[in-house]
Amino acid sequence: MAEKLLCASSDISDTTARICEVEGVEIGVIRHKGTIVAYRNVCPHQGGPVCEGLKMPRVCVEFDEQRRPLRQNFDTAEMHFVCPWHGWEFKIETGEAVGDSKIRLSRYKVVERDENVYVEI
Ligand code: FES
Repeated sequence: MAEKLLCASSDISDTTARICEVEGVEIGVIRHKGTIVAYRNVCPHQGGPVCEGLKMPRVCVEFDEQRRPLRQNFDTAEMHFVCPWHGWEFKIETGEAVGDSKIRLSRYKVVERDENVYVEI
């Protein structure tokens, strides 16, 4: 594994992923809960640019005593990427697909040093 420069630390926000290209591979990088996470920008469903999708909180449905849906709430403690092609959602913290935890985004190990961000490829 080689360490490759991704971008400057100051280029990374916590609202949208920055898309960087390293050796022909697109990588989405975002600051999340104080750490930097980086995923290959390819959705495991059909290859869409998953990291370019919306960043949305988990949707929780509240039911009444007869199990009828009452309302929806957002859980901002769990944020998701929503793939722009077909709407699959992935937990930003782990890369797991919300509907099936066996499906995951491809994650890179990130190193932040001297105000730059590197990934191991
Ligand atoms: S390609 Fe991402 S949801 Fe289909």
